[in-house]
Amino acid sequence: MSKKVRICMIGAGRVGKLHSGTLKRYVPDGEVVALVDPAEAVLNETGEQFGIDGRFPSLEDALEKAEFDAVIITTPTFTHKQLAMLAAAEGKHVFMEKPMAMNLQECDDIIAAVEGRGLLLQLGFMRRFDPEFVAAAERIFAGEIGEPTLIKSLTHGPGLPPAWANDIRTSNGMLAEVNSHDLDCIRWLMGSNPERIYVEAANFKGEERGAHAEHFYDNMFATLKFESGALGNISGVCPCDYGYDARVEIIGKKGIMQIGSMQGMDVIVCTNRDQGLITPIYKRWPERFAWAYIHEIQHFVECVQTGNKPRVTGEDGRWAVAGVLAGTKSMLEGRPVRLEEVMDPAWPVPWQQ
Ligand SMILES: NC(=O)c1ccc[n+]([C@@H]2O[C@H](COP(=O)([O-])OP(=O)(O)OC[C@H]3O[C@@H](n4cnc5c(N)ncnc54)[C@H](O)[C@@H]3O)[C@@H](O)[C@H]2O)c1
Repeated sequence: MSKKVRICMIGAGRVGKLHSGTLKRYVPDGEVVALVDPAEAVLNETGEQFGIDGRFPSLEDALEKAEFDAVIITTPTFTHKQLAMLAAAEGKHVFMEKPMAMNLQECDDIIAAVEGRGLLLQLGFMRRFDPEFVAAAERIFAGEIGEPTLIKSLTHGPGLPPAWANDIRTSNGMLAEVNSHDLDCIRWLMGSNPERIYVEAANFKGEERGAHAEHFYDNMFATLKFESGALGNISGVCPCDYGYDARVEIIGKKGIMQIGSMQGMDVIVCTNRDQGLITPIYKRWPERFAWAYIHEIQHFVECVQTGNKPRVTGEDGRWAVAGVLAGTKSMLEGRPVRLEEVMDPAWPVPWQQ
């Protein structure tokens, strides 16, 4: 039997809780032995909820006092690079949440520090582990709908994310925090890198919800052209209030494929003959992608045990960040932007200066 993988969970917030719960309930070969968060209340709350006794205010402290094989980074984007590099310097494998980092220089530094040392690096693009998305990808790659020519992907999230995630200076905004998943997913399903992107954005609810950061937007529409010549679009709405909605439609030379539906949990209720049947929509992302989150963490633990390269790598994370940078530049300048305009890691991202 392979050795149990000891994990340090960095960040005890929404996603730190989700992954801690997944490891406790569904991944017997992995164990959270250390939990890190400078916010004492959330550190203790999550620690108690999942029975994690090793609690630390910083990664430095955890590295000094606890023994583990890998880290899972679930902190705000602007902290990812420093934490990944520190963990890698101490020989720990790294699973990190999307978006990988704030810019391409940070992505390259992470890739060099982790993969350059022969350690494993997996990105938290859980759609690549969702049973429906995986089945669809296999059927597209097997040629069922022919060569893909057009893709439409949407992610609409119910609630306003934490304040740091609404400010393009600290997070690159909604395109990064919400639509990173679409940017990764369309590149994966189309089998081609994006070449050009044009983004229009609008702000409808910011004022009433207290989101006052400059350039805040809650509706976004991106049009893309791929290197293959294919076309794509992504829509983002957050907060959309009506539920969590993630769907894709792909057209190929031979047919069309749809992934996902607005009909969420497969429970139908009738209590009123005038109202009729009620089918609940997914309320939040942990419900919609419940199996995907489990499979991605199982995959990471297996990779640490076997030394196999993860299915979602630093390179994938880097491409999504490139899409975010080009898309944000497009939004701010009001014109289509070629990806090559942002691919130089030395490019000083203007809104982060
Ligand atoms: N894969 C997904 O579906 C998904 C969903 C939501 C968020 N995310 C990503 O997960 C990450 C975290 O998002 P969240 O919603 O959990 O945020 P959150 O604000 O709920 O939690 C982040 C936690 O990190 C802690 N933290 C900050 N700096 C730290 C540091 N240096 N060391 C340790 N802890 C630190 C904060 O105190 C906070 O408790 C982000 O990168 C976000 O984009 C991914």
